Amino acid sequence: MKKVIITGVSGVLGRALARKYKSLGCEVIGVSRRPEFTSPDLDRVIVCSQRTIDDAEIILREKPDILFLNAGQIEVEVGPNGEPLLSTASSMNMVNYLWPCDVAMAASQMTWDKPVEIIAIGSIADCCPSSFGPVYHAGKIALHYFWTGTGPILWFGSGKKIRLRLYRPGAIQSDLAWAPANRLHPEGKGMKMRKKRVDGAPDGDQVAERIHKWTGRKHGWVGTYDEPLSFRALKVLFSLAPNLFYRIQLLGWKKESRFVNDLDQDSAS
Ligand SMILES: NC(=O)c1ccc[n+]([C@@H]2O[C@H](COP(=O)([O-])OP(=O)(O)OC[C@H]3O[C@@H](n4cnc5c(N)ncnc54)[C@H](OP(=O)(O)O)[C@@H]3O)[C@@H](O)[C@H]2O)c1
Repeated sequence: MKKVIITGVSGVLGRALARKYKSLGCEVIGVSRRPEFTSPDLDRVIVCSQRTIDDAEIILREKPDILFLNAGQIEVEVGPNGEPLLSTASSMNMVNYLWPCDVAMAASQMTWDKPVEIIAIGSIADCCPSSFGPVYHAGKIALHYFWTGTGPILWFGSGKKIRLRLYRPGAIQSDLAWAPANRLHPEGKGMKMRKKRVDGAPDGDQVAERIHKWTGRKHGWVGTYDEPLSFRALKVLFSLAPNLFYRIQLLGWKKESRFVNDLDQDSAS
């Protein structure tokens, strides 16, 4: 029986992944910060803050076949000018990037008799920084860089026992998908586009099903689901013309944010 550990198991995708792997007959262990969290799809819950190397070792000592680093955080509050809040940014960097890296490095210090797959849940927002989710995007970009750069070292260094993989979902029907709306002007085009995208987004179960199918692929190192062509185009621009990309961000913030907005200037004149 496969042992599967899922962080962020109280969230939309975490619950769906637990349901999926339980239905396949796996032993499913959830990780949460909430001592009260339970679910019929879990054999056990490990309660931990997911901040320290000790936390990483507690989870790795379970010797899972698959470890989903799925916990993720986005800004529910922003400052008076739309700026990231210090405490929120620090907690987001920890869960979205720093702690997953500690888990990977702690795994490399352990002996693995059987293979382990460490699957980080990234985002299609990586490689496409935007003023409407800057801390989140930066964390997911850093995660992607770390996984792609460190993965080969751990794979060959462990005798092909440790496999770092990354799955990048697009919008999922959840509160988290609405996060960029914090900074968007409610009447702007950007908000309309976001609404359309979130309304048409797959639910957690659909995404979990895709992740499960992808997990079975021998060459599936980085998986992606629901990435619009516009995102891909912006990424090409970011890598080929970074100064132009930055200027587009300045224009986008001026036009579409609720903090500096041409719509307000139009209605005032
Ligand atoms: N929803 C989307 O549109 C979307 C799109 C692309 C990628 N993703 C990624 O998919 C993953 C799951 O997203 P979701 O929609 O299921 O999110 P969600 O419903 O908000 O769940 C996130 C989970 O992460 C845990 N968490 C949040 N902040 C944490 C922190 N600082 N430290 C430790 N745990 C923390 C929470 O668990 P506890 O409070 O129980 O500890 C929560 O259950 C995330 O990595 C997210 O970035 C989501």
